[in-house]
Amino acid sequence: MTDRYCVFGNPVAHSKSPMIHAAFAEQTGEDIDYTAIEAPLDDFANTWRAFAAQGGRGANVTVPFKEEAFRLCDELSPRARRAGAVNTLVLGDDGRTRGDTTDGVGLVRDLAHHGVRLGGARVLVLGAGGAVRGVLEPLLVAGPSSVLVANRTAAKAEALAADFRDLGEIRGGGFDAVEGPFDLVINGTSASLAGELPPLPDDLFAEDAFAYDMMYGAEPTVFLRWATESGAMAVDGLGMLVEQAAESFLLWRGKSPATGPVRETLRRSL
Ligand code: ATR
Repeated sequence: MTDRYCVFGNPVAHSKSPMIHAAFAEQTGEDIDYTAIEAPLDDFANTWRAFAAQGGRGANVTVPFKEEAFRLCDELSPRARRAGAVNTLVLGDDGRTRGDTTDGVGLVRDLAHHGVRLGGARVLVLGAGGAVRGVLEPLLVAGPSSVLVANRTAAKAEALAADFRDLGEIRGGGFDAVEGPFDLVINGTSASLAGELPPLPDDLFAEDAFAYDMMYGAEPTVFLRWATESGAMAVDGLGMLVEQAAESFLLWRGKSPATGPVRETLRRSL
């Protein structure tokens, strides 16, 4: 029987993951079936168990189920435990569910593809929700000289930074505490969805700085437009999506697909 995989979300119809994994499967010769499944908001654990009982070997998990997926796992990777969220479920041959998160590694790999050097960089991260918590560990492990987490609700950024202080030089605060210059500014808020821009000073960017929005779309986000006008190199989160998918595929199938061609196909499809 063909091994089944899926992405769980609600809503999930817009998800690019089936297209990405179909491309990975074709490229690596793996015989898998990957679909998008809209899980009911109040019954995620049973939806996963039913899927596993019907030949499901693993799944990606997206909004709003990443924390619930974290709670149902029999085993968690250290990076998932730190993130408090799971975006990849793996069903072991022993029937146990293992949880991992590949978002952070996806971000760091995409930054590397764009030539962003994290070692020694002054980094500003905007936002202090689940999306940001999910990427801080690999970001800090890459060795920036400092990370400032700035958020509309300052106390959330302070608490989040405190959870990662053992990994490097990280502080949290409100937007009013932001003082540049930064070599890299990552937007992990959902403000782009509302077409809004966090209130930031104009002189944020160092020379040759990068701005990265964890969101993506057919058009640049308001954050990326503003960053371009401010002289930074602006990059959206499409590559992060493909890289996190590749890491999930590796966990499931033991093969690392090439991401470049898939990224290009996806970009053309937007
Ligand atoms: P996610 O899982 O995408 O991280 P979340 O946990 O709800 O979602 O976090 C959303 C983040 O975007 C938060 O940091 C939020 O700021 P608050 O903690 O102050 O709520 C931020 N955010 C959402 N809309 C925003 C806006 N219009 N301007 C600035 N920040 C915004």
